[in-house]
Parts: sequence; C-alpha cells; structure tokens
Amino acid sequence: MIVADSVQETYERMHELLGNVVPDVELKIKAELVFEINRLKVERDAVILGHNYMEPALYHTVPDFKGDSLALSRMAAKTDKSIIVFCGVRFMAETAKILNPAKTVLLPSEKAGCSLAESITAEDVRALRESFPGVPAVAYVNTYADVKAEVDICCTSGNAVAVVESLNSDVVIFLPDEYLARNVAKETGKKIIIPSLIQGSKPSPDLDYQMIGWHGRCEVHEEFNLEDIQAVREQFPDVVILAHPECSPEVVGASDFSGSTSAMIRYVEETQAPRYLLLTECAMGDNIIAENPDKEVLRLCSVRCPHMNEITLEDTLLSLQKLQYVVEVPEEIRLRALKSVERMISIG
Ligand code: 13P
Ligand code: SF4
Repeated sequence: MIVADSVQETYERMHELLGNVVPDVELKIKAELVFEINRLKVERDAVILGHNYMEPALYHTVPDFKGDSLALSRMAAKTDKSIIVFCGVRFMAETAKILNPAKTVLLPSEKAGCSLAESITAEDVRALRESFPGVPAVAYVNTYADVKAEVDICCTSGNAVAVVESLNSDVVIFLPDEYLARNVAKETGKKIIIPSLIQGSKPSPDLDYQMIGWHGRCEVHEEFNLEDIQAVREQFPDVVILAHPECSPEVVGASDFSGSTSAMIRYVEETQAPRYLLLTECAMGDNIIAENPDKEVLRLCSVRCPHMNEITLEDTLLSLQKLQYVVEVPEEIRLRALKSVERMISIG
C-alpha cells in the first residue's frame, strides 16, 4: 500500500515501485485514483484486501493486505475495520462476509464471478451426497456460500492435500474442480471417479476409488496444455515452469512446481533460475517482476481471467464512494457455511 500526502508523491512512489512494468503516462493517471482511494479508505474506516491476480497498478498501491485465497480469508476474519473492500472475485468476498458478518463487505464489480463457482449448485451437492451417504465432502473455496453450507469442510489450493488427509476417511467427495481433485488424488495416492462422467449415478460397488470429484473447470487454467509447455521448453531450455493446481494433471506433471498463487510467488522469490514460466493469470507475472526486477518471468497472456480483470482502480474508488456492491449471505446459509470455512482456516 502507498502512503503519501499528495497525488504527486503518490505518483513518485508508484514510479519507484512499478516503473519497470507500467509506463509513466499510465502511472500519472492512476496516481490520482490511488491517492483518492487511500484517502477515502481511512475516512470510511475500510480495509482493502487484494488477491494476487490484481493488475499491478492496483495490487501494489491500495490493498492493506495481499495474498492467495487462504491468506485473505484469514485477514478478513481478523480485521477490526468497519468495511472490507474485496479486490478479488465474488466467492472471496462472500467468504469474508461468512467469517465477519458484522462488517460491510464490498465487491467493486458485480461481474467478478468465477467459472468454478458457477459449475455447481447446492442442489447438485445434496444429490451427490445422497448417492454417497456417509462420505465426507470437501468444497474448494471457489464456490458460493450455499454450496459451502452443504459440505463438511472447505479448502483452498494452499491446503487441499492437508484438508483431504485431515478427514481420515477411506473415501472423500471433493468438489467442484475436476483438475484440482485429480491433482490432489495423484499427490495423496488416491483413485478418483467423476460420477457425472459415468451416467450420473452411483458407480458399481466393485469400482476402486477413494475420491469422488465433479466436472467443474477453471476457464483460465484449463486452457494451458502440454504443447504450450513443450514449445516454451524448446525455445527456453533453461526455463523453470510453475503451474497452478487448477491446471490439468498432465500440465502439472510436466511442470517443475505447482502450488497456490502465493506459493508460486514464494518459489520464484526463493530460487535462482535463469527464467520462469507462470501458468496462471498473467497479471501475477507483472506483480512478481515489479517486486523482483532481477527475475525474468515469462507468461502466456492470451489466457486471462475475465472475472479478476473486472476489478479496476476506477471501480474500487466508486465502491468506496457509493458503498457498492454490498455482499450479503442469508444468515441460515452463513451459519452452516461458517463451519466449513472455519475448519478450512484451521488447517495448514
Ligand atoms: P489461490 O487460492 O491459489 O490464490 O487461487 C485462487 C484462484 O482463483 C486461482 O484461480
Ligand atoms: Fe475462477 Fe479461474 Fe478466475 Fe480463479 S482464475 S477466479 S478459478 S475463473
């Protein structure tokens, strides 16, 4: 976050921080927005949480806390400010509301959804649980509150393996990201089935499986493929490749490291490779370069998250000015979802 007494000082600080990734003409325009957001934030007693996918001119200037889904959930639970402005997507803002209902939670754009959260309904979860009675269910945090209310525990990409292992159960339902589930299954040595892919009914009892998944996909990470990896390795044989676990198991398997967005950032910061390729939302590469100008980071920017990119400095300012868009979760759903989210936060 930038602390400055004037627009000019804000611009100078932004230039120091971002001069290597954002041209000055843009910084000059954005400095006005940044100064006003940071001024209004204090006036309104607000805290801004920024996901690692925010564009650099926002990410490095207005959030009080930055991080992956797990870290931001923890911050949302702890804050004593009256207003939480969530620079991320709807399911993240909902999680903040679930954890801290007395606060006003604002999401700067109504369009900031997520293909994974859209892929499953509470009704789907109830039907699946009826088909597999007694089997504990995990929902990825990239789901809406009513889905979180139907499961035993949530997880993020940062603690998915630890959450599955914590259940001490022979069989686990893991929703809704098919690829994350397959990656967790691989890491924990479990066999997985996707019931809807075998006619939507309970599989025959003699099938060997320990995980039951769903067919949700992240519209960004599903786009990366082995041909991309092969082409980049041919052009840059010394590249180290990092893939988010929402990528397919084939892509994760052909990469050198896989982890949550914050784990990927840490990996780049703590290792010394000639260059890195990030298979995730493109803005994160810019954010890493801004803080680590000595690192060379390649990214495939033709694949973008349209939802994360809805959150701009302009909308963040409007959000504080007009107190929009207020995120609400019905109390009956919130209380049930809270149990799953709190269990998630206590793990790893
Ligand atoms: P992280 O939990 O790793 O930050 O990921 C969130 C997300 O939406 C990735 O696409
Ligand atoms: Fe959802 Fe994928 Fe965007 Fe993350 S990158 S918010 S999982 S659509």
